[in-house]
Amino acid sequence: MSQPIAEPPLKSLANFPIGVAVRAPQLAEPDAAALAARHFSQLTAEWEMKMEYVVQPDGSFRFDRADAIAAFARQHGQRLFGHTLLWYANEPEGFARLDESRQSFEGALRNYITAMVSRYRGLASGWDVVNEPVMENGEGLRESLWTRKLGQVGHFKVAFEAARAADPAAVLFINDYHLESRPAKLRRYMQLIEQLLAQGVPLGGIGCQTHCGADLAPGAITATLKALAGFGLPIHLSEMDVSVVDGGLLAGRAEALRRQAGLYAEAIDAFAALPDRQQFAFTVWGLRDKDSWLKRENAADAPMLFDDAGRPKPAFAAVVDALRR
Ligand code: G3I
Repeated sequence: MSQPIAEPPLKSLANFPIGVAVRAPQLAEPDAAALAARHFSQLTAEWEMKMEYVVQPDGSFRFDRADAIAAFARQHGQRLFGHTLLWYANEPEGFARLDESRQSFEGALRNYITAMVSRYRGLASGWDVVNEPVMENGEGLRESLWTRKLGQVGHFKVAFEAARAADPAAVLFINDYHLESRPAKLRRYMQLIEQLLAQGVPLGGIGCQTHCGADLAPGAITATLKALAGFGLPIHLSEMDVSVVDGGLLAGRAEALRRQAGLYAEAIDAFAALPDRQQFAFTVWGLRDKDSWLKRENAADAPMLFDDAGRPKPAFAAVVDALRR
């Protein structure tokens, strides 16, 4: 008989949605499902709502696992967050090999976005419409199949306008990472946001992924959220995890876990300090350590709030304390 879960549900302590990234097979595991249902008020599909899963080589779409995640969210009164419509890292065959004598590339993309966004209309609180558009060094915007076919500005306009038409109520986001640790990338991201807003692109929210190492300087997350909040738009702290092996400069695991707890608490404090109307959601990028993509990068990593067995870590206690402040 496993111990009854004692720790307080995070979503009951927060005045804003607390999200988690999940995969459909996890939600079929009783322990993982219980953790997801107890603590979180919003679900993001970690990969099953991306083109790499949905778009088949023949151009058809499969929604089986996205539908399973949506069903779990409905069953537990949770919001669904759509991740992601366009991403430089996803250039599926179905689009790359499109016969444009039969259907325009823009038409095919509009069709995909309309099919995806309208399917979850009324459940999806928002969408990452374009994910990670800024080059890692901040010197420009990434090239991709989407920019090559539709142009740098054009691909944003097509994607955001198609998503807006498919669900007028969903908050439409742009989303990127390493904004806390790469000032040039943050500057370029903010320039892009200004440019899109000036061009009338229906950008409704700003995503700050917050994948970081435990050696991130205290205060960096706070400064980044403050800078992004200056646009007055809803902020989604969209993918937080804190690697305890990234950077490799830390004085041992205990110190790394202490710093990890401090960064999660700082992120909660910084997010809670935003004006209420800008607090879209605070999302962690995985349930337990063993569920994290970072574990696949390095088995010694422990980036999440719960350990491999689903037990709360110092980071969880730090988040509870911060939410109670
Ligand atoms: O589960 C299948 C398995 O059945 C299959 O045999 C195997 C071989 O293809 O694939 C497995 O799926 C993998 C999936 O993760 C689930 O583990 C996919 O290949 C793999 O591409 C996918 O990686 C995801 C990655 O994005 C690419 O989509 C990671 O889980 C996910 O954490 C990561 O998330 C990204 C965000 O979308 C954007 N921000 C950065 C973040 C971390 O890279």
